[in-house]
Amino acid sequence: MRSSLFGSFSILHILILSCILLTPTTLSSDGDGDDDGDLVDQICRKTPFYDLCSSILHSNPLAPKSDPKGMALIMVNNIQENATDTLCYIEELIKQTSDEQLEQQLDFCAESYIPVVKYILPQAADAISQGRFGFASYCIVDAQKEVNACDKKFSGSSQAPLSDRNDIMQKLVDVAAAIVKLLLNG
Ligand SMILES: *[C@@H]1O[C@H](CO)[C@@H](O)[C@H](O)[C@H]1NC(C)=O
Repeated sequence: MRSSLFGSFSILHILILSCILLTPTTLSSDGDGDDDGDLVDQICRKTPFYDLCSSILHSNPLAPKSDPKGMALIMVNNIQENATDTLCYIEELIKQTSDEQLEQQLDFCAESYIPVVKYILPQAADAISQGRFGFASYCIVDAQKEVNACDKKFSGSSQAPLSDRNDIMQKLVDVAAAIVKLLLNG
């Protein structure tokens, strides 16, 4: 009786000890980014794709390094460029293909990307400029839906010529959504 009680106590001790030993490392990695470090870094860390966010904002010479609203605008403009390029690419593929099913899928995707490029992203950019972050967030969700719809169109089919581009778009849009959410809650 006694020895088994003692035995469980020592296991408990070991657990407590290992927790104490592990704590300092978690704490020190936690405390890193909260001083006056780069605001771009701080913001990108709150998005799901830090590297993507940081490379876009750091590589753009126009990106304001101290203004989250400006950063959101740079992201949306970047998505706009990317989406425009993808739309051109889709139209190129439509011209080249003789596969009827593929053509239908591509047509569907063109119809998803056209409103994203022409209306949704420009509206998101306007809304951000005007400080209407709730509406900006709504537009970004809309862009997400369009890209997802295009991507789904290829699920189960043998060719998915847009999957890389849709994937990048989804990530970019996720990053923009996270930054706008920060503005909304800020
Ligand atoms: C789209 O975004 C990806 C990732 O940032 C980038 O590698 C690619 O060059 C972009 N394309 C255009 C046309 O902006």
